[in-house]
Amino acid sequence: MTKEEELQNRLNLLVQFGGVVSKETHIDKLLEVIAAQVKRILSCDRCTVFILDRHTNELWSKVAQDMQHTEIRMPSNKGIAGEVASTGRTINIRNAYDETHFNPEIDHLTGYHTKTILAVPLNNVGGRTIGVFEVINKTEGYFDSDDEGILQLLGSLAASAIENAQLYESLSKSQLETIYRLAITAEYRDQQDTAIHLKHISEYSALIAQGMGLPEKEVENIRYASPLHDIGKVGIADAILLKPGKLTPTEYEEMKKHTLYGAKILCNAESQLLQIACKVASSHHEKFDGTGYPAKIKGEQIPVYARIVSVADVFDALCMPRVYKPKWGPEKARDYVVEESGHAFDPLVVDAFKKVYTGILKIYAITDGKTTIIPGITKELHRTEF
Ligand code: C2E
Ligand code: SIN
Ligand code: SIN
Ligand code: FE
Repeated sequence: MTKEEELQNRLNLLVQFGGVVSKETHIDKLLEVIAAQVKRILSCDRCTVFILDRHTNELWSKVAQDMQHTEIRMPSNKGIAGEVASTGRTINIRNAYDETHFNPEIDHLTGYHTKTILAVPLNNVGGRTIGVFEVINKTEGYFDSDDEGILQLLGSLAASAIENAQLYESLSKSQLETIYRLAITAEYRDQQDTAIHLKHISEYSALIAQGMGLPEKEVENIRYASPLHDIGKVGIADAILLKPGKLTPTEYEEMKKHTLYGAKILCNAESQLLQIACKVASSHHEKFDGTGYPAKIKGEQIPVYARIVSVADVFDALCMPRVYKPKWGPEKARDYVVEESGHAFDPLVVDAFKKVYTGILKIYAITDGKTTIIPGITKELHRTEF
């Protein structure tokens, strides 16, 4: 192969790589896919992706050992990988065992003999180092400057895929569950069927996002972030939240603060998913024409997540009985949503809502009429009509 052909060949592999890794959202699988692709592209024996864990200041990875994958963790300043993570520089080594920084523990664990190493930092789009990419034992000779360039390029593609996958992994299942429990606690004071309402919001929002043609990733973001939109209701006094009738203007002003409380609860979180949830919590009562609250922002200024959840929330709030109103039939609620297109709601979101309406109706029909009684909330409250 001529140099020219080899470059062309690598370029093709690169394009393929981008396509393959952007599809995988499960972090373990993703790391496997990345390693397999990189080994092929750079003709080397091993590829290890180290991820920087900022909470513990460790680099973690998975290595193949006795046909199994073992998780390894090492201090983030240790080894060649640690050196790259802390300096942000690429390191290209011809004989690992000659290097003082080299950490032979992984070799000991895997029974492997490392000779050549090329290690580059994994930088995200913001330029922050999120890990280290190492390729080990080039099939022939040493890693050269072409290899360095390619690995850096692969690293930037891999970094964005890894960050996306981390979005879901950064919250363990039990953490997510804790958050949803908190959301349910926050809301169940004013609705018997909070769990159902949250499920509806989640499914409707995801359906609408899909209808708008948003990428799968965004659809998932909104599916998981939307149930937290009203979490700020924890900060609202019972006397207002549970008032079986119309709120006075002063009470309504207080009620509106649930958006600000929600933002406070969620916005300091490090997880990207909770950052999205924060946008939804703070902006789900903004209106497309700028007459909503709390910031009176309009149009595209309102995060798209919030524009979507706003439609899902109002549709479902209308279809559910509230302490302050009886429930509406879904057709009436649908008409209301359509009427508000361009006023309260983004016309594009409403169009998508109409497009997926049969899907929404199916989800609605599963739980309609089923009532779970949560102690502490009386039937009378819910039957009050105004
Ligand atoms: P929510 O009950 O979850 O209602 C969410 C949104 O759905 C409302 O936001 C409103 O846009 C829409 N919605 C709900 N019911 C109706 C209705 O009967 N007619 C119309 N046109 N739209 C409706 P909004 O108004 O900003 O209210 C936010 C939250 O404040 C409500 O959440 C609820 O918890 C509380 N709230 C609002 N009005 C009253 C009230 O008169 N009495 C009581 N007790 N709470 C109220
Ligand atoms: C290191 O970064 O020093 C460890 C190299 C390896 O993966 O064996
Ligand atoms: C429902 O049937 O959806 C809720 C019933 C209630 O809140 O009383
Ligand atoms: Fe709300």
